[in-house]
Amino acid sequence: MALRRALIFVGPPGAGKGTQSKLAAKECGLPHLSTGDMLRDAIARGTPLGKKVRPLLGRGELVPDDLVMSMVEERLSQPDCANGFIFDGFPRTLPQAEQLDGLLEAKGLGKPLVIDFCVSPDKLLRRLSGRLTCSVGGEIYNEFDAPPKVPGICDRDGGKLVQRPDDRPEVVKERLVAYEKQTKPLTDYYRRRGVLQVVDAGKSVDEVSRALNAILKRAEGPNGRL
Ligand code: AP5
Repeated sequence: MALRRALIFVGPPGAGKGTQSKLAAKECGLPHLSTGDMLRDAIARGTPLGKKVRPLLGRGELVPDDLVMSMVEERLSQPDCANGFIFDGFPRTLPQAEQLDGLLEAKGLGKPLVIDFCVSPDKLLRRLSGRLTCSVGGEIYNEFDAPPKVPGICDRDGGKLVQRPDDRPEVVKERLVAYEKQTKPLTDYYRRRGVLQVVDAGKSVDEVSRALNAILKRAEGPNGRL
């Protein structure tokens, strides 16, 4: 698919943004940029940024905008981001969205295409409590709905599957509050700009992927309709 665009996947924790970003990145040949993965990587490497943000992620709070923006700006300056990318979990506040608009303009990428992943709260809790992530390649599984062939081991690279520390019920509660207060208002911001598309993300992974690809197809090419 030839899509020269900034794609933004928004939605509550556990909506399937990461799962679908990985599939769409392959389909469109665009890099997948997850600010959550970047922050977890900084924590794992013990960088100064990682040390600052570790307690925030542990409590389910958002990281301050200035820290996230400098991390994103640095990533966007890399050559693989010249023709577009998929943001998973960014922007998450209005100031982040406004600053991103400026960065996209400077890169000549124009308006983003924003996909809002909608899922009922009961499904979110089931998905988060069952999520397992490969500690090597980041592959995402679910012990209820998408288990690995061998329990605890990644099908792809044999890595150990782990539960994210912020998927504990008390932290999930805080992440959902942060989403409602700070991130949900972004859907109105992007709807007013005419760039928001909604996907029913409560369906199966394949069904969501098909719905998403249909949207991306409509946006494709110089005469794309979205
Ligand atoms: P981040 O890593 O971005 O987490 P999140 O937004 O809370 O989203 P998740 O990764 O939990 O869920 P997802 O929607 O990707 O679902 P997934 O595909 O994994 O952020 C973590 C933290 O970092 C934040 O709390 C904050 O502290 C900080 N942060 C990050 N970005 C920031 C920013 N921009 N500003 C400030 N702070 C920031 O799927 C979940 C499970 O469901 C999996 O088990 C999967 O197998 C399963 N699943 C997926 N799709 C389906 C389906 N269709 N049917 C059934 N099961 C499914």
